[in-house]
Amino acid sequence: MAEKQKAFQKCINPDCGAEFSCAEAFFKCPKCGDLLDIKYNWSEIETPKKMSDFAKRWAAKNNRLDFSGVWRFRELLNFCPDDLKISIGEGQTLLQKNDMLAEFIGMKPGCLRLQYEGLNPSGSFKDNGMTAAFSHAKMVGAKSCACASTGNTSAAVALYAHHSQMKCTVFIGSGRIAFGKLSQAMDYGAKTIQIMGDFDDCMKQVQAVCTELKLYLLNSLNPFRLEGQKTIMYRILEGLDWKVPDWIVVPGGNLGNSSAFGKAFFELKQLGLIDRIPRLAIINAAGADTLAELVNKRNLKWNDGKIDNKIIHDFYAELTTKKFSPHTCASAIEISRPVNLKKCLRAIDVCNGVVRAVNDQAITDAKALIGKFGLGCEPASAASLAGLEVLLAEKIIKPDETVACVLTGHCLKDPNVTVNYHKEKGGRYSNPPVESPNDLQQIIKLMS
Ligand code: F0G
Repeated sequence: MAEKQKAFQKCINPDCGAEFSCAEAFFKCPKCGDLLDIKYNWSEIETPKKMSDFAKRWAAKNNRLDFSGVWRFRELLNFCPDDLKISIGEGQTLLQKNDMLAEFIGMKPGCLRLQYEGLNPSGSFKDNGMTAAFSHAKMVGAKSCACASTGNTSAAVALYAHHSQMKCTVFIGSGRIAFGKLSQAMDYGAKTIQIMGDFDDCMKQVQAVCTELKLYLLNSLNPFRLEGQKTIMYRILEGLDWKVPDWIVVPGGNLGNSSAFGKAFFELKQLGLIDRIPRLAIINAAGADTLAELVNKRNLKWNDGKIDNKIIHDFYAELTTKKFSPHTCASAIEISRPVNLKKCLRAIDVCNGVVRAVNDQAITDAKALIGKFGLGCEPASAASLAGLEVLLAEKIIKPDETVACVLTGHCLKDPNVTVNYHKEKGGRYSNPPVESPNDLQQIIKLMS
């Protein structure tokens, strides 16, 4: 049906493969309930001959779409007419070469980059996805939207909903969200519902609410969100003068990013815009390590889309029996039933990926290092560096390989974790404040 359209939606399950127009809004395949992908008829789209052609758009920054770090690459996510694109200047992010940190963790100079997505308008990578999904929401005429969130999604949805003049409700687990984020959702005018449960409970409820009340869902189940998140990889290539790195390291929660990154590289290779695909390392928190468990211990694989669902169902049944609720200081990735699991398996297949889990001590130590040597980040983002250290120790990543760690969220999201880490002096890099009487001589003494 969709042959002549530039873009269409398609179920990822090869036994279903149903196709739908982009003028419709679903968050699951209406035929079989599996995940939906955005597919492109590339022959209908004028794509650039080489990635560096996109660089010309730096010179036209007063064009709002060229200014956006997402829409600058619009031919590669070509599902929406330009006049319907919602942008608030997202994607002005930074690929920082960090030799001091590289040396500290035993890598060669020039090999480590930090992609700081905290620089987005709402403070996390989510804005890359929201600009795309809200543009789609506008295409389908949605008036009201909702999401479940561990924090960043709620802030990003609330911000973009405001700019799209849509009503917005965010569902968060009671006591499971950093205050910096809760404050944003309230400030941007979203209705905030705190559910007595964890993120997985919120995710389940929000899907039911969106179905019942016909609201537009903005979690990464929404395939249009992932189209926007592909551009994080384009910007990493841009920051490396269009050279493909050896490794991308990213924290894994609901697994939208890893899924989007795999899709980005698959498409670029298909289009002949890159000559090789980097490897992907996805890092779970040990307290929320579903992906690591399923991939490394239970041998779950993409298998050309014919995934062994029994492995997943059995594991989830075990979690239910144990009444398991995930716990980690990296609240953003405190998720035990990641909705994009299957697409992530595909990304692992495409990118010859690996999965590791790191504990909270390793995450907070890594966070302190990124603070000390880099630009800082929130706890979940630091899982990427902690994971890189593990993979260097295992000699899976070599010290002279080019690595980009994606720092997904801003360092001011969760100051409690940071201040406690330093004050409690328990971490390898704790830098506690010193108390002083209000007396000049004593202050000077303390400074020596
Ligand atoms: N890093 C940060 C800072 C996040 O906020 C999230 C997810 C992730 C990593 C995980 O990304 O889902 O693509 O694997 N946060 C969601 C939220 C769940 O509600 O803000 P993923």
